[in-house]
Amino acid sequence: MSIQTQDRVGTTARTPVLARNRVELAELLAGARAAGARVGYVPTMGALHEGHASLMAEARRQVGDDGQVVISIFVNPLQFAPGEDLDRYPRTLDADLEVAASQGVDIVFAPDADEVYPGGVRAGETDEAITVDPGPLATELEGAVRPTHFRGVLTVVAKLFGLVRPDVAVFGEKDYQQLVLVRQMAENLCTGVEVVGAETVREPDGIAMSSRNRNLSPELRRRATMLSQTLRAADGSARWGMDVALESARAELRQAHGVDLDYLEFRLPDLSPVPEELHEETEVRLLIAARLGDTRLIDNMPLILGATRPAARAATPAATEGDS
Ligand code: PAF
Repeated sequence: MSIQTQDRVGTTARTPVLARNRVELAELLAGARAAGARVGYVPTMGALHEGHASLMAEARRQVGDDGQVVISIFVNPLQFAPGEDLDRYPRTLDADLEVAASQGVDIVFAPDADEVYPGGVRAGETDEAITVDPGPLATELEGAVRPTHFRGVLTVVAKLFGLVRPDVAVFGEKDYQQLVLVRQMAENLCTGVEVVGAETVREPDGIAMSSRNRNLSPELRRRATMLSQTLRAADGSARWGMDVALESARAELRQAHGVDLDYLEFRLPDLSPVPEELHEETEVRLLIAARLGDTRLIDNMPLILGATRPAARAATPAATEGDS
């Protein structure tokens, strides 16, 4: 159980208890469950920032002050391909514990790799026989560039769900494809876990918060704002339909230097393709991935696309000019 340190209006600041292995975690959770507490869970790979803090706050909202908020900090080798940035991934446990404390987290589960993969794990590979097949969506978008990534993500999330057995788990919309796949897995494998998405938190200049941002040099960090600027440019003309919005986004990208685009795609909220003709305003996601130096960044934004019947397309230029 956590130690309650301070009461403020509407919140309780708590010192999280650190569980380093499965047994410690199970003991801490048994007490909470016996008391009927709901368990809210945020899986992370550490290097926590305000984006993660907002996920913890959402988990607290979901389970209430009597519930237990658990986070895990585990850099999962299976979701990194050999040669990706597994070794460079920032590891900052002491600072992470402070972020968890600031959000009233009850339990921080920070296991070693052999606690999670007793059969052995390396970058992109495990000696364990069973992993989660993430299905066809995992070969698109991020999966087209990182073909083994979502197998690694869903396998570790399934394991962590099994260890924590949360009522509700919170994932950031920043990794939108991950959120969609985890939600599908939770349903398809009948985990009983409710998966909640939380909005992306951005820096004042628009860049989506990410643990990898700290790997960027000041120059690349400045250029990285192109991702969110591109999304916003598309948003600005989205009511004229997909073609116009994509053209605005591409015009923005043409001004970017040293940004190597992997994809820029509109999808429906479940990440299925957007039909060519829309007969009414439609909620979609615009997703972007690009490389800056040897760092790869992703971002996405929800947009409302206007109808794209031929009449709507023909009216576009004049209507745009008349706008105030
Ligand atoms: O989003 C992340 O940080 C990771 O992919 C996750 C969900 C913790 C699984 O390792």
